[in-house]
Amino acid sequence: MKHFIASCVFVMCAMTTNAQQTPAYLDESLQIEQRIDDTLARMTLQEKIRVIHAQSKFSSAGVPRLGFPDFWTDDGPHGVRPDVLWDEWEQAGQTNDSCVAFPALTCLAATWNPDMSLIYGKSLGEEALYRGKDMILGPGVNINRTPLGGRNFEYMGEDPYLASTMVVPYVQGLQSMGVSACVKHYCLNNDEEYRHQVNVVVSDRALHEIYLPAFKAAVQQGKAWAIMGAYNIYKNEHNCHNQYTLNKILKGDWQFDGVVVSDWGGCHDTDQAVKNGLDLEFGSWTNGLSQGSSNAYDNYYLASPYIKGIQNGKYTTKELDEKVRRVLRLFYRTTMNRQRPHGFLCSDAHYDAVRQIANEGIVLLQNKHNVLPINRQKAKRVLVVGENAIKMMTVGGGSSSLKAQRETLPLEGLRKKLGGNIEVDYARGYVGDVTGDYNGVTTGQDLKDNRTEDELIAEAVAKAKTADYVILIGGLNKADYQDCEGHDRKQYELPYAQNHLIEALAKTTKNLVYVNVSGNAVAMPWKDKVSAIVQSWFIGSEAGNAIADILTGDANPSGKLPFTWYARLNDCGAHALNTYPGTWRNTDDKAAGFDKIIDEEYKEGIYVGYRWTDKNNIKPTFAFGHGLSYTTFSMSNLRQSAKEMTRDGKLTFTVTVKNTGSKRGAETVQLYIKDIKSSVDRPVKELKGFKKVWLEPGEQKDVDMTIDNNALAYYDETTGTWKSEDGEFDALVGNASDNIMLNSRFMLK
Ligand code: BGC
Repeated sequence: MKHFIASCVFVMCAMTTNAQQTPAYLDESLQIEQRIDDTLARMTLQEKIRVIHAQSKFSSAGVPRLGFPDFWTDDGPHGVRPDVLWDEWEQAGQTNDSCVAFPALTCLAATWNPDMSLIYGKSLGEEALYRGKDMILGPGVNINRTPLGGRNFEYMGEDPYLASTMVVPYVQGLQSMGVSACVKHYCLNNDEEYRHQVNVVVSDRALHEIYLPAFKAAVQQGKAWAIMGAYNIYKNEHNCHNQYTLNKILKGDWQFDGVVVSDWGGCHDTDQAVKNGLDLEFGSWTNGLSQGSSNAYDNYYLASPYIKGIQNGKYTTKELDEKVRRVLRLFYRTTMNRQRPHGFLCSDAHYDAVRQIANEGIVLLQNKHNVLPINRQKAKRVLVVGENAIKMMTVGGGSSSLKAQRETLPLEGLRKKLGGNIEVDYARGYVGDVTGDYNGVTTGQDLKDNRTEDELIAEAVAKAKTADYVILIGGLNKADYQDCEGHDRKQYELPYAQNHLIEALAKTTKNLVYVNVSGNAVAMPWKDKVSAIVQSWFIGSEAGNAIADILTGDANPSGKLPFTWYARLNDCGAHALNTYPGTWRNTDDKAAGFDKIIDEEYKEGIYVGYRWTDKNNIKPTFAFGHGLSYTTFSMSNLRQSAKEMTRDGKLTFTVTVKNTGSKRGAETVQLYIKDIKSSVDRPVKELKGFKKVWLEPGEQKDVDMTIDNNALAYYDETTGTWKSEDGEFDALVGNASDNIMLNSRFMLK
């Protein structure tokens, strides 16, 4: 017995000793906030300063003395960017950094399927883990305000509800891997031209109803661990250190507990960076905006100048400790999370995810006489035309450019699928961008072709004469002034004389299928002359396979447009009101250059996308939410759970959807809400619910969509709160914003 007691005492002593030896900051049984308190108390001023700014192009320091590893970020948002040198943009020349290229976020949004966002986030998280990255610089949720926007392809369309619904699972999936999202670019970075200088002037209502909801959802529902400040200016302060958007809205109203990261070069001033909400400074040019010197990280605004300010009493350590606390929280969520799963790079599952997302995101815009899918029994000869059939699209476009392990090209995908009994011929048709490199990653493709426009068109037309189908794969690409970071498009029309080519082919064949590869809408003056139109986005590694799946009917198209496809540029509010890309404050400013501010007034207010076309009775080429299938559906029997709704209650709408055709397919039921009478101007209708449902031929299902008061409220500028007014509302249900099939009235009391 004596022995037993003695050994118990020994064991207990050993446990206590062990427990005493584990410092609180490493003790996994404690809450993260307690561990942070302990870490903060142990850190020196130098160590604190070191964790709040970059130490290389994409990394910041940990706290080596205490065992916190360095923190590695990487672009984002469509795959894990290849490694660059420590302090250069040039390639590091690794051989193990090729990745899977996921579809661009416009394609993801076009799936209208949050499950796709979840798979996307998880798969990307696994790739990031394998590559040793702790944060992915994405997703992007800036609203598509104009179809000229150079970075729209990286975002989730024009509608705040769609973008909010789709961004949340992406963030959750990514972060379930212990990899932080960095939601960008917060906020009002809706075009690229003069992106460092634009001061956005926008009503509070448009800010809260249109431009902020997706960020808010990512923060409050997705629980994003980081957000990236945008380059541009709002209320005369840069968005990377902005009292109103960061301190008041993000950290105050929304209670964001994560880290605000500056966009690369978006920080401009120590004082503002200290006080106005920035936590982690990246990519600064050390003389302000235009130049840097090598390894000058100590010169960063939140480095030496900040220490000096603390040492000479200009700043206390209050703000510093707050920033460090947030950064440590990020460390505990990522690098210090010992439960982090393992990563996989280029796994079969990731390629499958890409193909599935692409198959669900490609949109069948038009299909006259059911020309698609290609009839493989009857067709003998298929002609593929166009540069985008043979051009790699994963390289280019700015910071989202990738080094893909593989990218199936459309011509290859079609040859693989149609080959055998069907002859697949090719004609170039037009020459666009033949460069094929970005930041030292080259496609290795030689796309040079010196023939004239007439020669190229003549060849395509000659070959088209004997083809059963002509598939023209064109659109934009990732070159400057196309779908690319840094600038916006200069024109709404298709570039490289593609309109001439399309007109010529349309005269030659009835079975002309136009596949548009882009992240934006383009003018289609020839729309009625071609049989089928397919919107195929930038869809990454499986591009060719997915396009072939859709064109042959192996996958039934189910994508819906995440933005309005205007017939002409002036049908878009920002252009109709001539408010893009802003006006210089002084006439001399433009000449004076880079650091002069221009005001861009969002005069269209809340009337963005379909809200504008609805209000002005404009018929778009294709409406927001539009997308066809190879089968047909009916929607009937719209019911609601009650006649009335209270402000703290909910209302469920149920509709029966039936597959009335002969192929398995998916329909997306869209619920729009219309306020019948309001004391303020309100859009004709607004998307407030949707659900995608897969049905076998003949099958029918009841689809439920539930709303609460948020679906009825507008942002009241006089009180700065959301408000809904008693009275009647309509629930409008359809399969596109211009195809409402059912409606039902209810009262808010
Ligand atoms: C872009 C960001 C990107 C960063 C790092 C910036 O130019 O605006 O979206 O994450 O570079 O590459």
